[in-house]
Amino acid sequence: MNQTDMTFSDQAKELRRIVELHRQESRTAGNMRTLAVLSGKGGVGKSNLSLNLACALAEQDQRIVLLDADLGLANIDMLCGITARYNLTHLIDGSKKMDDVLIEFVPNVWILPGGSGIRELADLDEPRLSELIDSLATLEDRADILIVDTGAGIHRGVLSFALAADTAILITTPEPTSIRDAYGVLKTLRASPKVGGRTDIAFVVNMTNSEEEGFEVASRIRKAANQFLGLSINYIGCIVNDDLVGKAVRIRKPFYQLYPASRASECIRKLVQTLLGTSERGITGAGSSRGLKAFFFRLTRKHFTER
Ligand SMILES: Nc1ncnc2c1ncn2[C@@H]1O[C@H](COP(=O)(O)OP(=O)(O)O)[C@@H](O)[C@H]1O
Ligand SMILES: [Mg+2]
Repeated sequence: MNQTDMTFSDQAKELRRIVELHRQESRTAGNMRTLAVLSGKGGVGKSNLSLNLACALAEQDQRIVLLDADLGLANIDMLCGITARYNLTHLIDGSKKMDDVLIEFVPNVWILPGGSGIRELADLDEPRLSELIDSLATLEDRADILIVDTGAGIHRGVLSFALAADTAILITTPEPTSIRDAYGVLKTLRASPKVGGRTDIAFVVNMTNSEEEGFEVASRIRKAANQFLGLSINYIGCIVNDDLVGKAVRIRKPFYQLYPASRASECIRKLVQTLLGTSERGITGAGSSRGLKAFFFRLTRKHFTER
């Protein structure tokens, strides 16, 4: 190798280093976005959406932490065929470190099992809480987006996550009971002075017969939310009813991974495009980012502890 080649290779190396540095910088402290997935009624597809969205976002070079925060049935681990040995409780009591609790499911997707630790968040004393928030904030170094899979309903825990997140993704099926309960969630969210200012509300219709049906359901809800609650919510897409979803659940693998060509996976890909591209602020928009520490601070201080 002659002198010129050396220089060229050094320059290329330096360029790569700068690009990588820039990429790291743009991805560190304060840039992590938070999405909370919630619903009024149970069994409408929150966990499946959270997990498959995580896999699809990871494919787009997004690094995801998926927090399983269902206060009742934690089941992200069931859906991906892993066994969680530790959860948030172990972080709270200090018996385990973040690296012990996090499970790298596929490249760029880490699962953080909440377990009973989610409930304990409400009762932590000051020093414990700030220690925990510091520990959770370290996730910011390794991920771009936190997805929180919550439980159903309008109890405090679920709403806290929704209100603390940058974007709350509300999911319903076309069934009247599911729509009614989703509307109930919107009503309760509306009652919080924080909504309309900080949290974006995005809307997904799951298990539709067609895209048209999803659009039609969403239009009705958007209209009602606008007219009666003064809320503007973004419809970000639907997931069609697809037998392969249930099949993947039984095999304990995300359908997006198992059946990438399925209709449901196609819908997930569209959702990701919408989330990454055309959402009002874009979920990775650095300017609007408030970071993970702020998220957990809001979660535990502002809402979780308000009874
Ligand atoms: N798009 C879909 N098509 C067909 N079945 C679905 C779809 N989404 C969810 N399901 C079924 O609904 C069940 C409940 O989904 P899940 O994600 O666990 O709901 P939640 O977390 O809201 O309780 C799944 O086990 C699956 O069988
Ligand atoms: Mg669930």
